[in-house]
Amino acid sequence: MEPAGARRPDMFARLDESPDAEFYAIPRFVTHIDDGAIAAVTQLYRERLPAGGAVLDLMSSWVSHLPPEVEYRHVAGLGMNAEELAANPRLHAWVVHDLNLDPRLPFADGEFDAATICVSVDYLNRPVEVLRDLGRVVRADGPLVITFSNRCFPTKVIAAWLSLDDAGHVALVESFLVEAGWTAIERQDRSSADGDPLFALIARSPGATRP
Ligand SMILES: C[S@@+](CC[C@H](N)C(=O)[O-])C[C@H]1O[C@@H](n2cnc3c(N)ncnc32)[C@H](O)[C@@H]1O
Repeated sequence: MEPAGARRPDMFARLDESPDAEFYAIPRFVTHIDDGAIAAVTQLYRERLPAGGAVLDLMSSWVSHLPPEVEYRHVAGLGMNAEELAANPRLHAWVVHDLNLDPRLPFADGEFDAATICVSVDYLNRPVEVLRDLGRVVRADGPLVITFSNRCFPTKVIAAWLSLDDAGHVALVESFLVEAGWTAIERQDRSSADGDPLFALIARSPGATRP
């Protein structure tokens, strides 16, 4: 078996290459992981996101996993469905933006203190470009918390995701972070005994770099 970080030209292909805007046109007011896994995500955010800071929830929807008792100065969401984003009670601002069409983020250098990507990184077909630009908009050393489980929309994830197991997913996402310049990368398994597995990668932003 090849190492997870090895790049093959077809690894970012998807079974359904129709525009993501079509797939996400109808809101899905569902949760994508069980309550135990959501609690694990929330606990990680409680531990790692700076209270009072500005937070970017990338690939966001109607539900927020931010700890309810913690206030943040600004919470922005980027996702694909306006109705879902409008229903998210924690977002101060949100934008519909297809990262598979344009991996550049519509935010300023260092605008955020931290960022999150929950159960979504597997849908990015240019993940390194997105993560590199995320390093521009999160201030230097600001944390990024990426979480995922073992469920997905199989037609919309990249081929590499379908070919790997949980450990392979962790290694793959770590390889994306390394290539995108994120530092101090940590792996965590926050799975509960009887619920959905929950894996996390936590890293520190390289900050905006200028040529
Ligand atoms: C499984 S849902 C997870 C939503 C949310 N993060 C959560 O924890 O419940 C996947 C999310 O990825 C977003 N997404 C999928 N493809 C995207 C794309 N091409 N650009 C931006 N966001 C995308 C969708 O809008 C959707 O909200």
